[in-house]
Order: sequence, then C-alpha cells, then structure tokens
Amino acid sequence: EQIEKGGYDHFMLKEIHEQPSAIFDTFRGRLLSDKGIIKMSGVEDNMKRFLNADRIIIVACGTSWHAGLVAEYIFEDLARIPVEVEYASEFRYRNPVIYEKDVVIAISQSGETADTLAAIKLAKSKGAFVFGVCNVVGSTIARETDAGAYTHAGPEIGVASTKAFTTQITVLTLIALRLARAKGTISSSDYRLQLLELELIPDKVKKALESDDLVKSIAAIYKDAPNMLYLGRGFNFPVALEGALKLKEISYIHAEGYPAAEMKHGPIALIDENMPIIVIATKKGHYEKVVSNIQEIKSRKGKIIGIVTEGDEQVRALADHVIEVPESLESLSPLLTTIPLQLLSYHIALMLGRNVDQPRNLAKAVTVE
Ligand code: G6P
Repeated sequence: EQIEKGGYDHFMLKEIHEQPSAIFDTFRGRLLSDKGIIKMSGVEDNMKRFLNADRIIIVACGTSWHAGLVAEYIFEDLARIPVEVEYASEFRYRNPVIYEKDVVIAISQSGETADTLAAIKLAKSKGAFVFGVCNVVGSTIARETDAGAYTHAGPEIGVASTKAFTTQITVLTLIALRLARAKGTISSSDYRLQLLELELIPDKVKKALESDDLVKSIAAIYKDAPNMLYLGRGFNFPVALEGALKLKEISYIHAEGYPAAEMKHGPIALIDENMPIIVIATKKGHYEKVVSNIQEIKSRKGKIIGIVTEGDEQVRALADHVIEVPESLESLSPLLTTIPLQLLSYHIALMLGRNVDQPRNLAKAVTVE
C-alpha cells in the first residue's frame, strides 16, 4: 500500500497532487489547440442528438453532482443550452418529465452508484439519449449509457473525491465548447482563447498546489471550529458546496456551502467572531459584489479566509487570510479555486486525527440505495 501511495501519506493527498497530470490526461488527444478543434467521438457520433435537444438534464450524486452544477453554468454560458441538474435519488422517484429529445448526462466517478444507474434506466425508458461521464472504464454506468466520455483521472482510492471532480469539470467543459462551436454560440476568438487557457490549467493547478504550507498554517488556526461557512458566486458557487462537502466528509466538522448573495437570507445570522468563512473571491467572478459580501462578514467579526486571484489587494486588505490561485478565465476558475479547499480539508482532518482516506460511515461507491 505504501508503494501505491507513491510516497504520499494518504491516497487523498496523492490524488490531490495528481490533478495536473489527471487534467492533462483528460484533454490529451481531445483538445487539439493547434488545429483549433475538440475531438470526442462520443459527442461527434451523436452530434445530431445533442443539437436537437432543447435542454440537458444532468443526473449525479455527491461530488459528481457538484461537477454537474459547475457544468450547468458552463453549458448555459458557452453553448446556450438550458440545463437542469438533478440529484439522481430525487429524479428517479419523482415522476419527472422526460422528453425523447432530452439529452441526459450522468456523471459518476465509480460508474456504479445505484441511484444514478436507476435515473439512467428511467431516462432511457422514456426515449432520452443518455451520455455518461465516468472515471472507471467498463463500469456499469459506462456500459448502460448510449455513449460517453471517460475522465481518464486514473484510479481514485480516497473516499473523498478530488481528481475525479476536476477531471469531470474538464470533460464537461470540452463538451460544452464543442457544442458551442457547433451551435455558433461562441466566437472563434473566444473559442480559441478557451482552448489555449484550458491547456494552461495543469500548470496553474501545479501553482495552486504550492499554497500547501500556507493552507496548512490556516488549518492549524481553525481546526477546532465547530462550524464553517463556504461562500462563492457564479461558477464558484458549486465550488463552495464542494469545499464544504470535503470538510464534512473527512474532518466531521459541520460546514455549509452557500451562494454568497444568499448569505443575507439566513447564514448571516450565524456569523460572529467564532465563525470561519471561506469566501471564493476571484477577480472575474462578480468580484465587487463578493467584496461587499466580505465587508458584511467583517462588520460582524467573522473570520475571513479569501480564495483570491494572484496579486489581489482589495480582499487582502479585508480578510484574515488570503490564498492565491493563478488567474484564468472565469469558467475555468473552479479548476483552480477547488485546490486550496481540498488541501484545507485534508490538513484539518489530519490534525484532528481522522481517517482521511476512509472516513467513518462513508463508502467510495454506493451501490445500494
Ligand atoms: C459516494 C462517494 C462520493 C461520491 C458519490 C458519488 O458518496 O463517497 O465521493 O461523490 O458517492 O459517486 P460517483 O461514483 O457516482 O461519482
């Protein structure tokens, strides 16, 4: 097992650090930026179905559901296709309206999640076209779907999902870009820029990983907090949800993810000097609005940990701590802002003596209801 961990103390840490190469492997051979094309046979072979759809329904559970939420923002922004993101467990039992023209995308790391599989079967029985985004090759969901695209993240052993999440977002970004190009909803210059920026992501993730020591020192300060709040807007709202989920899963600290602007409708009542609040405040994502959210937190004495773009000064002046990530396009920023949140939960869990790779009560793949 020590050999499998490749010199890291835990699988989770190894998998966090594998993300630059996992993301690269996910777009390798698919993203041909010199030719300005994206090649994914599962999409190409079924282009008519994709273009004929009036909407996309995404079904998933857990972290994969969060990747689906990021994809909702990306598909709608780039490809102008309405997207609904559903918990597979709710979708399968609520007699949902499914049309034959619908495209259903099922996201699953393991490809074995029982609820997601049941949602797929239901969608297929209604005549929808079902596309899988799985990590495990040959898994049940990969076989049951009409077509799909693998994430190529390599085996993920840690129960808390890390590299599966970022590679799912990568695959879904490629699909959204390919459809945007086919539909003409993106200009050729924006399209080229997206491809070039996506190619830079592995190096930028590497750079984001360099915050490890800083994140560790912040973890030491807040490890005994009973609650934490994670806030983000736009593309980074689902990242806030995912950051909170990571912390809950492995440290057993209660955490909530919230859209920053919704704070005033409830969570603001929780804020006092004992509440650490992680705010994703990258430059391009409604920055000024997030800054005013941060001011509201500060005036209530909440402890602010800002996830900011390199060189940021405005949030730095307000926050108790800032963790920088490299600048990128807004739609690609979740691939970077996620990194320090994964590290934060890892270090807190470790300091609390938790079983990082196998947290209590959780399973890597939930194959029963
Ligand atoms: C379990 C795992 C999570 C995962 C979820 C969905 O709860 O512990 O890490 O996100 O299942 O799994 P899937 O394999 O379908 O992505």
